[in-house]
Amino acid sequence: MSKERIEKLRKDLEKYNYDYHVKDQPSISDFEYDQLFNELLQLEADHPEYFDPLSLTQKVGGEVLDSFVKVEHPYPMYSLGNAFSLADLEVFDKRIKAVFPETTYDVELKIDGLAISLEYEEGRFVRALTRGNGTVGEDVSHNIKVIDSIPLRLNKSVDLIVRGEVFMPHPSFVKVNKKRAEEGLVLFANCRNAASGTIRQLDSKIVASRGLDGFWYTIINPESHGLKTQSEALEYLNSLGFKTNKENKVYSDMDDVYQRIIEIDTFRHELPYDTDGVVVKVNDFASQERLGFTVRVPKFAIAYKFKAEEVETKVLDIFLTVGRTGKITPNAKLEPVEISGSVVSYATLHNFDYIEGKDIRIGDFVQVRKAGEIIPEIVKVNLEKRGAESVRYQPTSICPVCHDPLMKFENEVDSYCVNVSCPAKTIESLIHYASRVAMDIDTLGEKRIEQLHHHKLIETIKDIYLLEDRKEELYELEKMGEKSVEKLLNAIEKSKEQSLDRFIFGLGIRHVGSKTSTVLANHFKSIDSLSKASYEDLLKIDEIGGIIAESIVSFFGVDDNLQLLNDLKELGVNPSYEDEVVGDGFKDMRFVLTGTLTSLKRNDAKQIIESLGGNVVGSVSSKTNVVVYGAEAGSKLTKAQELGITTWTEEQFLEEVNKHEE
Ligand code: IVH
Repeated sequence: MSKERIEKLRKDLEKYNYDYHVKDQPSISDFEYDQLFNELLQLEADHPEYFDPLSLTQKVGGEVLDSFVKVEHPYPMYSLGNAFSLADLEVFDKRIKAVFPETTYDVELKIDGLAISLEYEEGRFVRALTRGNGTVGEDVSHNIKVIDSIPLRLNKSVDLIVRGEVFMPHPSFVKVNKKRAEEGLVLFANCRNAASGTIRQLDSKIVASRGLDGFWYTIINPESHGLKTQSEALEYLNSLGFKTNKENKVYSDMDDVYQRIIEIDTFRHELPYDTDGVVVKVNDFASQERLGFTVRVPKFAIAYKFKAEEVETKVLDIFLTVGRTGKITPNAKLEPVEISGSVVSYATLHNFDYIEGKDIRIGDFVQVRKAGEIIPEIVKVNLEKRGAESVRYQPTSICPVCHDPLMKFENEVDSYCVNVSCPAKTIESLIHYASRVAMDIDTLGEKRIEQLHHHKLIETIKDIYLLEDRKEELYELEKMGEKSVEKLLNAIEKSKEQSLDRFIFGLGIRHVGSKTSTVLANHFKSIDSLSKASYEDLLKIDEIGGIIAESIVSFFGVDDNLQLLNDLKELGVNPSYEDEVVGDGFKDMRFVLTGTLTSLKRNDAKQIIESLGGNVVGSVSSKTNVVVYGAEAGSKLTKAQELGITTWTEEQFLEEVNKHEE
């Protein structure tokens, strides 16, 4: 019974997933979906014997690789020749029509992501490879598997190699970068970089959280699937469960193709993903085959590339902003212009060297473009239009906000304001300290902080904890009734017991993001011992390199910062540390759990393993260190024995755990 139910749930959920992520037409509510999903999760947990690596429940990720394995493509992955004008397209058209006068072309969007090849056997996903050098790619199956719209089981039991483009849709890009900004990480410059950076992750959980998507368009050996044309192949792919782009159209005349390209260029900026061109393909597969390939590219297809739109405008001013870390960024204020569908009024100038390198002056006319279609930048100065009134920018050596001298660190192009009390920094540091990803002080958001700062109620982190003595003043503020004040003060009180890693992160030490903060919390267990750590102590920690160590040591070397920690302690801020990882007896060991465990639940076993520094993975491979097995263990146990991997009964497992926990 359970087996049938599991299979039915898997099938139904696959359909709902397809309706939602591929067709974009949800057929049940999120609530109903979650209920069925949870039912499946529970049944799978209760019946490990029916485990299927291709079940939708596996899409949450969790597999962590040590490195990527290189794999030869069974069929090489070619690139495309480029066209930049109608004339280039006409040359292509002439060459084709000389052989096939009646040819038609399938015209598709060129998606700006990264090329991926998927392999299925009997309708089941087996592998995903990057393009690599076209002959040998890297196995990224663990990451591709977790992308919602990519089917793991097809609607038909076919052997298939399909290729397409994995990309990061705009909404995912915005979300990912917002999170990175909150965590003090470098932002992705554009969707393509974000997609390829994501696919290069070793931990598939990260990939699962990044909202990637994919469009699929090439079938290897399409004739063996009874397909005659590319447009038919797209429909077939769609019927198998793949997401295909619906903007393709078939034409016979190259002028019509060009009209379509112009049309696409007018609406492509409204699409929720990046396109950098249009691909024109001979539609008929038999003709494609006769035309064949050059060494590098097919002769039957060509990519028309859109030029990144560049618009000329005037630099009205150059001004500086100060970031939370004190980093100074020069920006250009521009005469507003429309580029690729939105109005641009500012461009980043990165740092003083950049301004000098490009010789950008106030009053200059400059070419502006949106790099990767998102972030505006200045391409070059139009020197012919430079007037006598243009003013060379003099890099300042003082902070625009507090007027303290700026500092430049060795080997860094950026300048910094290092005054801990610089208001530009303090307001940013306050926002960061209270933010959801750091101390998570409810209702103490950006607007509220600005308001409290404006009324001189908070200047430094310490002042947050003095607010309880200033209730009367709080009541006087706009939108601060008794309830709001109470809510705010409660949240502040609660934050006194916030976890140590969040507290460390909240301090805003340069180069110390949330992950590093967790590492530091786990290692030092208190802010006191972290603050006393030497450069050498810090370097001994695997994850900490010289730059981070130096930054931490200099942070705790500043008297004002130590004073702040003392004040916070006196005010009752007592970051808690829970010994989650009790040891490292299983450090970096990979475990597989199989069969029915009797004295403890699978999740408990997993937690114990993780608390000792190990990982639990789903399938047995040569990299597995130990297989822990319970009653009715099946193929995983057999495989482990074949591979000569250590196997433990549940009892042996608990004995080992006891040894390490003592
Ligand atoms: S067809 C034989 N169709 O653009 C090569 N490629 O610049 C067949 N791309 O390698 C490729 N959208 O990564 C094709 N609709 C589309 C595409 C597309 C994006 C990428 C693909 C290709 C690169 C060539």
